[in-house]
Amino acid sequence: MALQLGDTAPDFTAETTEGPVSLHEYLGDSWGILFSHPADFTPVCTTELGEFARRKKEFDDRNTKIVGVSVDSVDSHRGWSDDIAETQGTGLNFPLVGDEDRTVAQLYGMIHPKALETATVRTVFVIGPDKKVKLTLTYPAAIGRNVDEIVRVLDALQLSATHAVSTPVNWNDGDDVIISPAISDEEATTRFPKGFTTLKPYLRLTPQPNR
Ligand code: BEZ
Repeated sequence: MALQLGDTAPDFTAETTEGPVSLHEYLGDSWGILFSHPADFTPVCTTELGEFARRKKEFDDRNTKIVGVSVDSVDSHRGWSDDIAETQGTGLNFPLVGDEDRTVAQLYGMIHPKALETATVRTVFVIGPDKKVKLTLTYPAAIGRNVDEIVRVLDALQLSATHAVSTPVNWNDGDDVIISPAISDEEATTRFPKGFTTLKPYLRLTPQPNR
């Protein structure tokens, strides 16, 4: 069965562009993003990996380590990094797994044969500090991902993990959030000192608590 939200992210040890990595040990107490791309030296992937590399500081700032995967070799990844640097401005600056034997791809269900026979599709797994899968995304080979969205959901996941709130449609960092219906008005008054607006008893909005 495919990995589901709340499952433990499978651990593995693999060769990467930054030497051998054991996922759980590497992540430590951090959040993690494990993502796959179909193939090195292909156009959409080159733009995506360049964007992840350019924005690495945003992930660092969120205590999040990123790890990429494809079924290419580590030597291939290293050669491709020069093209990424040349065309996208920044080369690889995070571990990229050389998963030639598809161990990681199979553990995470990254190969979807009806969409792409032998390579990994574009998957994203957000992993919490407890090593549980918090969010999954899957895109086909022809469609590049949106790193803004990945950063956005990371902000939302981290906020909801530390405060009793959830995020409404189209939420962005800084927008109002929703108070959990499990919290009474009385408790909300002390937990959310900036106040809250009640649209319905089950729909109460409060300014983002960690700002
Ligand atoms: C691409 O990155 O452009 C790509 C990779 C594999 C299949 C199709 C497109």
